Amino acid sequence: MIIDYAAWLNLVLRWLHVITGIAWIGASFYFVWLDNSLTAPSAAEKKEGVTGELWAVHGGGFYNPKKYAVAPAHMPKHLHWFKWEAYFTWISGFSLLCLMYYYNANLYLIDPSKMALTPFQATFIGLSFIFGGWVFYDELCRSHIGQNNRLFGCVWFLSVTAGAYALCHIFSGRGAFIHVGAMLGTVMVANVFRIIIPNQKKVVAALLAGETPDPRLGAEAKQRSVHNNYMTLPVLLVMISNHYPMLYSVPHNWLVLAGLAAAAWPIRQFFNLKHKGDVNYWYPVAGALGIVIVAMFVSAQGSNPVSAIKGAVSPEEVRLIVRERCSACHSDMPTEAGFTTAPKGIEFDTMTEIKKYAPLIMMQAVDHDTMPLGNATHMTKEERAELGEGLKALTN
Ligand code: HEC
Repeated sequence: MIIDYAAWLNLVLRWLHVITGIAWIGASFYFVWLDNSLTAPSAAEKKEGVTGELWAVHGGGFYNPKKYAVAPAHMPKHLHWFKWEAYFTWISGFSLLCLMYYYNANLYLIDPSKMALTPFQATFIGLSFIFGGWVFYDELCRSHIGQNNRLFGCVWFLSVTAGAYALCHIFSGRGAFIHVGAMLGTVMVANVFRIIIPNQKKVVAALLAGETPDPRLGAEAKQRSVHNNYMTLPVLLVMISNHYPMLYSVPHNWLVLAGLAAAAWPIRQFFNLKHKGDVNYWYPVAGALGIVIVAMFVSAQGSNPVSAIKGAVSPEEVRLIVRERCSACHSDMPTEAGFTTAPKGIEFDTMTEIKKYAPLIMMQAVDHDTMPLGNATHMTKEERAELGEGLKALTN
């Protein structure tokens, strides 16, 4: 019995990452909605320090949450903190990053046509971006730029785009994208870990000691919480982007990422305003338009430039190219180290299989350089063009 430990660990970490991510983002979306939807309290409640409340029905019960802007007169016995969801999202995500992109750096992270790095160098650069991103962000928040939300948003957006540009010129498209996501995700979790929770703890401690808490603590936590709110949609986009080579395999992939992140802003803004009762459909229209513009930009960049082909390409030649460049992994008995079964169950051992997967092969190895993974089998541009011609002839 052979157990593929790496594959199972990958599955468990990814499962955990998605579950804790849903719990974290779900709770934070809920609190943003709650905060924006509060209505004025009754006079009696106002006297107790309540600044807003609302009524909601869910799952067979009625709920009546109340907000105390500073704090209730007496600390309740049980106070719920929301932090482990965020911490475990980071722990599981970072472990998954190490397992896939650092442990298998040659396959997923390094692209020798961009920079011929050793796995150690690639890992070092990757970690520097992730942790350096937080240091830079934190300094920016504390500077005078941090005082102005709009200015901060523009500067931070441009800085992340510059980071994405650099990463896309260092790593494979897929490796670069996941590092932008890891950088933003780390900033969001560090905001919870380093600012929001510690500040809340200080406020609670001050109240228990009968002192008035420093209002700057709340203001700083609020600033970070607003930032997290706007970073959520771009982070989620990056996390699912590795299923879409059309995003990360095009020449100006960093611009594609920046364009989609920019398109996400009006969509988030729409919901933030809508919770407050200000419904403006121009925001989602602007977001949708942004996505259409990015889609047009992607298709205008075209795919791989096609090299000149000497003549017709026979099915036998197609089979030879596939055998030489793909079968090390995509076969019922892979020979590539670390593969016990064909990735995603996709095997190219017979002509029937090659024909069946022709559109996928076209997308992954002809239109884009996504496959072979990390170009492990050193496929050339000419072979990609030949494969394309041969597949076209095969399927027509
Ligand atoms: C070094 C191993 C390796 C080689 C060589 C390789 N692949 Fe892959 N391939 C993978 C892995 C791993 C995946 C799964 C990627 C993922 O997790 O998204 C994959 C996925 C795919 C997919 C499915 C993509 C999807 O998500 O729909 C296609 C199609 C594919 N490969 C085609 C090819 C072709 C064509 C070649 C040869 C030109 C090739 N591969 C060579 C490792 C390899």
